[in-house]
Parts: sequence; C-alpha cells; structure tokens
Amino acid sequence: MIAIGCDHGGYELKKEIIKYLEEKQLEYKDFGCHGESVDYPEYAKLVGHAVADGECEKGILICGTGIGISIAANKIKGVRCALCGDCFSAEATREHNNANIIALGGRVTGPSLAVKMVDTFLHTPFSNDERHIRRIAQIED
Ligand code: RB5
Repeated sequence: MIAIGCDHGGYELKKEIIKYLEEKQLEYKDFGCHGESVDYPEYAKLVGHAVADGECEKGILICGTGIGISIAANKIKGVRCALCGDCFSAEATREHNNANIIALGGRVTGPSLAVKMVDTFLHTPFSNDERHIRRIAQIED
C-alpha cells in the first residue's frame, strides 16, 4: 500500500500521480487534501505516520515546492523523505538512503517527469550494502 498526500500546491500533480497508480493497479491510500487551502505539515504527518507505523510501505508527498512537506515528514522517526527533481536522485535515494517517502514540487516539476520519478522510486530496491546500512543507522541515532 502506498500512502499519498498533498497540500493545495500539490493537488493537481497528485491527481496525475494517482492516475498513474491506478493505471498500474498499485494500491494506494489518499490522505488528502482535495484542493482546498491547507497546511502542509498536517499531510506530511498523516503520510509520514502511515509509513513509519507500517500501515503503508512507501509514501508520496507533494506541496508547491516539495520543500516544506519534506522537512515536516523528516521530523517523524523512521521517515526518510527525499525531495526529488530528477530520476537519478529518485533511484539513488532508494539504493543509498532506503528512502521511504518521495516528495515532489507541484509548482516545480511537470507531470511526465514526476510520474517517471515515482515509477523509479517505487521500483528501485535498497542496495542493502553494508556502508549504506551503516550510514542510515547513523541518521537514526
Ligand atoms: C503553499 O502555498 C506553499 O507554501 C507550499 O505548498 C509549499 O511550497 C511549502 O514548502
């Protein structure tokens, strides 16, 4: 199950990503918002806790820039949220950081690139390399 959430700045892009998830028959839970003006930390917390608590394996968060919502999500223990703007980063953050949430900027990134990043993020496994495990453990300290 994939958790997805956004604020008003990410709402249009969220609709495009949901279209992709449905086309690929990937199960998701939409935590809102529905286009109304909201505060992004609330949605970062809903998605972040769903992932950190194990209800969802991965998450997708979108605000205007992706910055605020990623900062807020990364306050939650167990969340590794990566703000991405390119596919190389979306792949590397899975392989190296075992990121469990991708953050995107709805006012920054176009839908085609965003969908490709999400696809990369969802389908790239963690490397399981000892050095990456060690570094992630140091973040969690
Ligand atoms: C909302 O206007 C905007 O501040 C928010 O979507 C995000 O870009 C914050 O980082």
